[in-house]
Amino acid sequence: MKICVLPGDGIGPEITAEAVRVLKALDLKFEMEEALLGGCAVDATGNPYPEATQKLAREADAIMLGAVGGPQWDSLPREKRPERGLLGIRKDLNLFANLRPAILYPELANASTLKAEVVAGLDILIVRELTGDIYFGQPRGVREENGERVGFNTMVYSESEIRRIGHVAFQAAQKRNKRLCSVDKMNVLECTQLWRDVMIEVSKDYPDVELSHMLVDNAAMQLVKAPKQFDVMVTGNMFGDILSDEASMLTGSIGMLPSASLDDRNKGLYEPSHGSAPDIAGKGVANPLATILSAAMLLRYTFGLEEQALRVENAVKTVLAQGFRTGDIYERGTTKVGTREMGDAVLAALA
Ligand code: IPM
Ligand code: MG
Repeated sequence: MKICVLPGDGIGPEITAEAVRVLKALDLKFEMEEALLGGCAVDATGNPYPEATQKLAREADAIMLGAVGGPQWDSLPREKRPERGLLGIRKDLNLFANLRPAILYPELANASTLKAEVVAGLDILIVRELTGDIYFGQPRGVREENGERVGFNTMVYSESEIRRIGHVAFQAAQKRNKRLCSVDKMNVLECTQLWRDVMIEVSKDYPDVELSHMLVDNAAMQLVKAPKQFDVMVTGNMFGDILSDEASMLTGSIGMLPSASLDDRNKGLYEPSHGSAPDIAGKGVANPLATILSAAMLLRYTFGLEEQALRVENAVKTVLAQGFRTGDIYERGTTKVGTREMGDAVLAALA
């Protein structure tokens, strides 16, 4: 069981350290090795996804990632930006299925900006296609046309790409409340008409799952109006990027949300849904829970260790019930702790 650890930039190293401590505490004989991805890799090698990292990541069964990016790299040419490292590793390892759960922990009901009754009990899974769409479509660029600059990107999905993410989403729905909402923009975009047609074809294999369809603008609205109507949502790369940020805020803090990006053999990259938060980097105040919950997803999806995954998730619930809070989820009457202390509390709950 080989895990490649990529701490990355900003708060990445601090939060990954806590997730690594949690994994070690389970005594499962993982082999863990660290490598560089993102801005730190650009600084050290000039490449956001260097060859040494590629080698380690390809050999590993799972990858634990902190976060990448920061203002100091924003002015670099596009191919040297930290984000390119992240997109590069997703594509290189064929991690096409991105699972982003948005769960509201009852203790954090007040952390959401929405009314408690709208979000209480919320439990949504967003399945985002991660290696296609306008993110990777060709042609792309900025060119000169009739004396002015014209920018262009290509939204493209093949039938097989839609079908394989469809199967992941239907199977996820089968394990939950058996409702799947596919999100597209078929009233305007041909590419997403194909998306809808293929989802309907795939649904024939899953008669026990109720499939519905929603246009992306309406989905964005419904997510804040009545989010509990959703069980599993499946959508393309760009719509999924946007909707998953929106869904994360229903739960109050993006600091709580894990994610998994899987290939077709359950090799996976696990990372918190949030970014590198350069403003609080190095201060020891970041919330490590999303990364620790990502480690739980790693146990479940790559290694099939359901019992250990539940142990970690229950330890997180315990520390919340005990009143421990990092700054992002702090409210009066709770105990404010830093990154390391939060990790300590999870370790204590595990023991
Ligand atoms: C995400 C992020 C990335 C994306 C960026 C950092 C390239 O927003 O994982 O959601 O757009 O996929
Ligand atoms: Mg995003």
